[in-house]
Amino acid sequence: MATASEIRTLAAGAKLSDEQLLASYAIADRSVPWLRANFVSSIDGAATHEGTSGGLGTDSDGRVFALLRRLADVIVVGAGTVRQEGYRNLAIDDEGVAWRTANGLSEQPPFAIVSASLRLEPSDLAGYATRPFVVTTERASPQARARLEDVAEVIVAGDSNVDTVELKHALAERGYPQLHSEGGPTLFATMIAQGVVDELCLTISPRLEGGLGSSNR
Ligand SMILES: NC(=O)c1ccc[n+]([C@@H]2O[C@H](COP(=O)([O-])OP(=O)(O)OC[C@H]3O[C@@H](n4cnc5c(N)ncnc54)[C@H](OP(=O)(O)O)[C@@H]3O)[C@@H](O)[C@H]2O)c1
Repeated sequence: MATASEIRTLAAGAKLSDEQLLASYAIADRSVPWLRANFVSSIDGAATHEGTSGGLGTDSDGRVFALLRRLADVIVVGAGTVRQEGYRNLAIDDEGVAWRTANGLSEQPPFAIVSASLRLEPSDLAGYATRPFVVTTERASPQARARLEDVAEVIVAGDSNVDTVELKHALAERGYPQLHSEGGPTLFATMIAQGVVDELCLTISPRLEGGLGSSNR
């Protein structure tokens, strides 16, 4: 957490350094499974502006978003967000890689993409900096699964919907206890319903979307 003096510095309009921000989000015990969720909402509850969450945030939100990725063992995201926001080859930058290795972490945290349909492009996943996980269900089509297995490790967690309790357990078991979820709304709703969110980093954007962005919630 930021100290009282850091908060006063912030209130005075000065910027916290990356190290101060990272320290304020530091993880107490990396061996204990923990799911940190990051979410942005307009003041009237929309999850997007003009189709993406990025439109709701500021440069400062973008900065924190990147630093939170730096702290993660694995980044969890729903397939809807991957498709809508065009998640591709999302590598941590050189400074982040240097920070991670100096702090005993892998260079790049893998992504874990949650999908029942497996409507994901193998060529997109092949471009990720680290081989991703795809987390799916027992009922997923074997053909769709086979298409992805060359480029991703497919984990089955749940029957017709991914059970996020199983997801958390499966990733921790593979050596990735610190989960960072980037949403989107459907996956986040399941995580809340299943009680797996340990920490929420919530940004309230000072925007009124008038119901338009809410259609994606
Ligand atoms: N405000 C924010 O912080 C925020 C964050 C991220 C994204 N977004 C925005 O949200 C919009 C997308 O919304 P969304 O609700 O579709 O996002 P989402 O939760 O990322 O994607 C939904 C899809 O993810 C898969 N999925 C999620 N939970 C699942 C579960 N328990 N079991 C199996 N599959 C599961 C399914 O994929 P399949 O269809 O492949 O089965 C489902 O159709 C985008 O416009 C994006 O920009 C906002």
